[in-house]
Amino acid sequence: MKAPPDQGVSSFIYPPTGPNLEFFAKALQSGCLIAIPTETVYGLAGLALNEEACRSIFAVKGRPLMDPLIVHIPNRSMAGELAELPDCFQLITDRFWPGPLTLILNKKPIVPDLITAGKPTVAIRMPKHPIAHELLEKVGAPLAAPSANPFGYVSPSTAEHVAESFGENVPFILDGGPCEIGLESTILDLSDPETPQILRPGAISADEISDVLRVPVISNKVHLGGDQAAKAPGTFFRHYSPGTNLSLFEKENPPVLQKDHAIVFLDRPGNLLDKNVFWLSEDGSLEKAAQSLFGLLRKLDRLNYSVIHCEMPTIDSGGYAEAIRDRLSRAAAK
Ligand code: TXA
Ligand code: MG
Repeated sequence: MKAPPDQGVSSFIYPPTGPNLEFFAKALQSGCLIAIPTETVYGLAGLALNEEACRSIFAVKGRPLMDPLIVHIPNRSMAGELAELPDCFQLITDRFWPGPLTLILNKKPIVPDLITAGKPTVAIRMPKHPIAHELLEKVGAPLAAPSANPFGYVSPSTAEHVAESFGENVPFILDGGPCEIGLESTILDLSDPETPQILRPGAISADEISDVLRVPVISNKVHLGGDQAAKAPGTFFRHYSPGTNLSLFEKENPPVLQKDHAIVFLDRPGNLLDKNVFWLSEDGSLEKAAQSLFGLLRKLDRLNYSVIHCEMPTIDSGGYAEAIRDRLSRAAAK
């Protein structure tokens, strides 16, 4: 493929100019893969209804075929072409789409089994990031896009993270700046609309969904194992993992500082400043901690510490706490 019209400041990363968006939309339509920004994390996108494109997504990521992909759409009406829509679809999407909520719905035959890993359901999301949205509109077709990281590694929240992990294997990365949320979307299973269930916690919490649907939403608090793993095969126990050993602690039990260990706090520790001490937000805001989490794990992973200690938010600290606990628990799982 020839080069995009407008060059970026580094190899593989291209600015979202009008001519580049046109170029990437055409490239996607012809079956190429492009890494794209979303408000959650960067995705590795290809035409969802093109089996060859989807096969390359699995191959480039090193992802097992049993782990289904999320389909991204530019507008709500496209969801009805891919899946049976439950009665609550309008209500829930009025509130949360476009945005960081993926819905698991019963699929229509048009969706290839490759995307759904043979399951009768399909995962669908309408991203809010303006560049993702514009590109999807230009392509005019659904795009499959898993997080743009090698299978099992930490997800990317900047274009540079994608380039670091894949190099020339993903030569086209559309730069949309750092992701606003920094954690993957909440996954809500509506395949049985009577019993909505969270399969992966994210920025949108079970309580917020429950308030809209006016029914209880099942959500497992810490991490999901066993049956849950079978329901969302990608939520394997160990995931989002840096190469360095990760050890978790609660605020009241910080580890003792050692010279080859890094310690990551949720907020700036007043009295314990050392070159091995890091923090995820200045003021303890969990939204800011989520934004910087994957970037800091990636950075520390390159610094050759023997252990990275990371503080877990307390379970009842609301909103993002469950999602951050979930990602940290999986990243630390042996
Ligand atoms: O925020 C996000 O959701 C990002 C951005 C790029 O949109 N995407 C993302 O995709 O996180 P991925 O592939 O890394 O995670 C998708 C998760 C996997 O755990 C997969 O098993 C689950 O969604 N999934 C996909 N289809 C499913 C289905 N039909 N039933 C249950 N789980 C499904
Ligand atoms: Mg992923």
